Amino acid sequence: MLRFLTAGESHGPCLTLIVEGLPAGLRLDNQTINRDLLRRQGGYGRGSRMAIERDRAEIVGGILYGQTTGAPVAIQIENKDWANWREHWAARDLPRLTVPRPGHADYAGMQKYGVDDARLILERASARETAARVAAGALTKHLLGPFGIVVGSYTSEIGGVSARMPELGHHERWSRAEASPVRCPDDEATAKMCARIDEAREAGDSLGGVFVVTATGVPVGLGSHVHWDRRLDGRLVWAVMSIPAIKGVEIGPAFENARRPGTKVHDEFAPSGGGVTRTSNRAGGFEGGMTNGMPIVVRAAMKPIPTTVRPLRSVDLATGEPAETAYQRSDVCAVPAASIVGEAMVAWVLAVALREKLGGDSLAEMEFRGKALWGRA
Ligand SMILES: Cc1cc2nc3c(=O)[nH]c(=O)nc-3n(C[C@H](O)[C@H](O)[C@H](O)COP(=O)(O)O)c2cc1C
Repeated sequence: MLRFLTAGESHGPCLTLIVEGLPAGLRLDNQTINRDLLRRQGGYGRGSRMAIERDRAEIVGGILYGQTTGAPVAIQIENKDWANWREHWAARDLPRLTVPRPGHADYAGMQKYGVDDARLILERASARETAARVAAGALTKHLLGPFGIVVGSYTSEIGGVSARMPELGHHERWSRAEASPVRCPDDEATAKMCARIDEAREAGDSLGGVFVVTATGVPVGLGSHVHWDRRLDGRLVWAVMSIPAIKGVEIGPAFENARRPGTKVHDEFAPSGGGVTRTSNRAGGFEGGMTNGMPIVVRAAMKPIPTTVRPLRSVDLATGEPAETAYQRSDVCAVPAASIVGEAMVAWVLAVALREKLGGDSLAEMEFRGKALWGRA
């Protein structure tokens, strides 16, 4: 019903996004999308590519007079770096890359697609593609807004430095994250994370970490328990896991819960205004594959960036001889940027579930049904 496709290479002319299935009547402009594109570009630890790019969404279809019409929305994001590459692509004078980087898509991609140049793989495996996802996420955040659903994120760990912030609510964490160069709500941890990134840069190394995406205002009953592929927690984990370099995703404190007895885990009910409330949210907003009305909490583990200045051992696939990886311009740490991509994927999955639940061809129709069901929007 609601779906998106992206196309485009890291050093091609642009990224293209097509979103199909948005309702008519959604008010949108480039600024909304550009704000999130800018957030994805930032973060302490990013490489020089982000100094070249000034990501801007150009809406080329589906929005007239500032509103969606129900037609597919098409967006392009220019790659400014293309100017430095176009002649090389045309002249075909770029050196062949035959030494696969451990941790990147080079080796598996070359074997799978039968190519002898990793460039043909890395151009699309590059996380440059995630700029288009962030644009898709920005569109869907706009759809969630009228229903009171807000999605935000923050960094909780980088290179083994963990944030401590037990007293802060979700919205306070988000706003503090916006003011931190590593998107971490804990000032002390921010300083340590930046120092750790500096150390890694000095050592020619790279770092990973953990980010948390939360969604508040989510109504009860999105997704379903009745069939495996309708369980929304599973769909959410898939979407977040699909972000390059994300290797673990948990909902709520899942692994910690696994070490505790049930009476110390399950979120007890208490009566509240004719309904119920919860005394805790260790389930992270899901029960039975459905949203349970509590904030959604998704935690994602990002591995260290595979491209490092200090070489890793590899093999030159052209000769079969041992070889060391060559450095290509790269981020030292991209956890803060990945958290914005995480927001986009969570917003996307929630918007899909909302469209499934409410249907309708226009936002007005969706709002009418939402009001009937939940008494809001
Ligand atoms: C926002 C973001 C930025 C990234 N930047 C780089 C980078 O500069 N260099 C690099 O080698 N990998 C980078 N990565 C990770 C690679 O894209 C990823 O490790 C690679 O595509 C292989 O996929 P996998 O790690 O999921 O197996 C980045 C990932 C994200 C989410």
